[in-house]
Amino acid sequence: MYTQKVMDHFSNPRNVGEIENASGVGTVGNARCGDIMRMYIDVDENQVIKDVKFKTFGCGAAVATSSMATELVKGKTVTEALQITNKAVLEALDGLPPVKVHCSLLAEEAIHAALWDYAEKHNIIIEGLKEPKKDIHEDEITEE
Ligand code: FES
Repeated sequence: MYTQKVMDHFSNPRNVGEIENASGVGTVGNARCGDIMRMYIDVDENQVIKDVKFKTFGCGAAVATSSMATELVKGKTVTEALQITNKAVLEALDGLPPVKVHCSLLAEEAIHAALWDYAEKHNIIIEGLKEPKKDIHEDEITEE
């Protein structure tokens, strides 16, 4: 039911941990399942994400999507990172079962939350970035 890539990122997640004095930290949750994801980004003076770490207290799909999200975000500028959607994370993992697609929304929103925190702390505006939701449950993708 899970692809090899999902199993790989679940069993051997990349970039787990915290960054001390991170440029931005974002925490999001899903009140329905109770899962929480926290993402830390370290951004240099050129607005490039040099390092990224995450902690996920959640299901296997949430761990795999956060792990893949960190891989996609690393080395990107903050503007490029904003373009990484849950669909991109899903594609990179070769998909998730439909009932688990909502878990990937946590990853997308955690990226946005970390970018938002970075932008606020450094008094900059990232074009197109909206204030992230703390609880993604409300506009979850409807699962067929
Ligand atoms: Fe909650 Fe997967 S079941 S994020």
